Amino acid sequence: MSARLSQGGIDFVLDEVAGALVIRYWGPTITGGLAGIPFERTIPNSDFDRMQNPGVMREHSRGWLGYPTISGHRNGANWSTQFTVTSLKGDSESVTAILDDSSAQLQIEYNFQLDHFGVLKAQATIVNLGAAYTLNEFFYWLPLPGRATQSLDFAGRWSKERNPQRREIAIGRWVRDSFEGRSGHNFTIGEIALTPETSFASGEAWSVALAWSGDSQYCIEKNYENEISIGASQIIRPGEVIIEKGGSHRAPEMLASYSSEGLDGLAQNYHRYVRNRQKHPRKARPLTLNLWEAIYFNHDEAKINTLIDIAAEAGIERVVIDDGWFGSRRSDRSGLGDWIVSAQVWPNGLKGIADRIHDKGMEFGLWFEGEMVNPDSELYRSRPDWILREGSRTPPLWRHELVLDLTNRDAFEYVLEGISNVIARNDVDYIKWDHNRVLADAGSSGRAAYIGQTEAIYSLFDELKRRHSGLEIESCASGGARIDLGMIDHVDRFWTSDNNDALERQTIQRWTMQFIPPELLGTHIGPSPSHQTGRHLPLSFRAVTALFGHAGIEWDISAISKDDQSNLAAWISYYKSHRSLLHTGDMVRVDSDKENNLYGVISQDKKSAIFGYAQLQPAITSHPRKIYLRGLDPSKRYKVRVVTTFGAPEMMSITPPPWLIDGVEASGDALMKVGLPAPILRPANALLLELSAV
Ligand code: GLA
Repeated sequence: MSARLSQGGIDFVLDEVAGALVIRYWGPTITGGLAGIPFERTIPNSDFDRMQNPGVMREHSRGWLGYPTISGHRNGANWSTQFTVTSLKGDSESVTAILDDSSAQLQIEYNFQLDHFGVLKAQATIVNLGAAYTLNEFFYWLPLPGRATQSLDFAGRWSKERNPQRREIAIGRWVRDSFEGRSGHNFTIGEIALTPETSFASGEAWSVALAWSGDSQYCIEKNYENEISIGASQIIRPGEVIIEKGGSHRAPEMLASYSSEGLDGLAQNYHRYVRNRQKHPRKARPLTLNLWEAIYFNHDEAKINTLIDIAAEAGIERVVIDDGWFGSRRSDRSGLGDWIVSAQVWPNGLKGIADRIHDKGMEFGLWFEGEMVNPDSELYRSRPDWILREGSRTPPLWRHELVLDLTNRDAFEYVLEGISNVIARNDVDYIKWDHNRVLADAGSSGRAAYIGQTEAIYSLFDELKRRHSGLEIESCASGGARIDLGMIDHVDRFWTSDNNDALERQTIQRWTMQFIPPELLGTHIGPSPSHQTGRHLPLSFRAVTALFGHAGIEWDISAISKDDQSNLAAWISYYKSHRSLLHTGDMVRVDSDKENNLYGVISQDKKSAIFGYAQLQPAITSHPRKIYLRGLDPSKRYKVRVVTTFGAPEMMSITPPPWLIDGVEASGDALMKVGLPAPILRPANALLLELSAV
């Protein structure tokens, strides 16, 4: 039995060898297939007498001495398995293998799908045919070739998410795990293997990303036999998954991708896959005003009315009232869980404000954090037993919060009904849903409940959307702590980071976009000085930075200068007239030195493009590196114009290069190979370039 998936320039070849399912190949299409290539290896000294082919299941019983694919037992028995392929069926896009172990009384249904963007989707379901089986782990693995000698993933913390770490692959297992019960600020989104030469623009890259928002781990492994592989798994806590007789466990999907066109090629595969989903938001992404950094907990109807009027005047399309509108929530210390509009701060309710926003043609958004509860709340006082905990222990507080047990049907219904009522009564169009703490000691009825909690939030979001047609949801978790390819199927936007400092955002956005397309990432113009870093940054720089995403403003626009107001209005109208390009085009990031970020979006027909060129730090040389654009059609001629309608960058030179004022017309090839003389920008300034084919 064998199968070959071939799509989008990728081949994926499976073989049955002595009963084991073996992945023979995953990578760029092989002209002529694998026929004739020998797989039989030599037998080294001190080894099994015959060559072993452990295959995808990586079993001890088939001679695998490393980390296994499946781990589990039945009260200590059936700890070791030997699965045999009993069926391998499919076509060039999808194949399903059935693996049976009659002695362990287990079956695995393993499905692989390859789409025409080259994204390979793997999904395994473990079926138990015997008495209760405790599943400890199911790991997805894919083989890597010897030339994949480096790995790349992302680490971070609150307000500084997705910092790249690139390293040599050494013998052993490189693990990036997350035990927070949510994906986390330090969550990598995906694991990448690459060659030393791989850059944004060129070279090979292989990656995996799990469609899961709970605990997970990613791995790159090189074993003593020189086999290199990449994989991922959902983390299962002890005893969390016990499969009853006849039952099954569905492991979350793993989305793997390969590109020979660098990290941008890899990103493009994911972006295309994400954009092609039925659930991908099709409506133009509304320019958003989020009131958090404008008012924090100081809710005042008159002030908010003023902000709404200014917002409508400026062209804003969605106004989001953030934390502080409900219960006793006058600070983050109390009220969480009491989903009733506070009569203290909203004596007239929220409906009037919703109407005012709607009358002005905008959408109304409201903040929730439905999974959490403050101990100082009506909810906790009446239902202290509704929290996730182990035995009678109360988990340590984090931001004065505990986590509600959404696997408890009553707690789930309470949150669903409470929030659903607020949405219905106040015509809420959009909810920003936060998850401000980690899960710790998260048990329910004496068992770990991390997986159940993640599944519960997926179904709660789906039910809210089913009940309230057109409702959009933003996944926020103290900024970017719940951005992953699992949550992406249940929400319409991610809050990229609580850090609205544009200089920090340059890096955070650049790397979050490795997996998530810009239209799903919230990018706001924040105040100056930044509330997170205290840094003063010019509006033009903040505006260029926030343009490349689902743009918004998070700033008290009632207290800004007339100049800033008119620059904002110009930026808003620029965003609106260019978002269809920004949100459907191909993203490129140009490899440059540490001093600059150069990035852009090019339309599918390559007739138009928008580039941002940001000076991150002062250049060491008197002239910075030229601006070499990328992704253009070499044979087209382009007009390049500098957009300054919402403020010009500040320079450090006697004169700017003349093309900045007069524009340029040149071939795509010349713009990419010869480049444009770069202006000498002050640090934390940016240039916006607009290109149109002539
Ligand atoms: C989190 C979010 C912020 C804001 C606050 C409100 O930190 O990331 O954007 O909503 O909560 O408490």
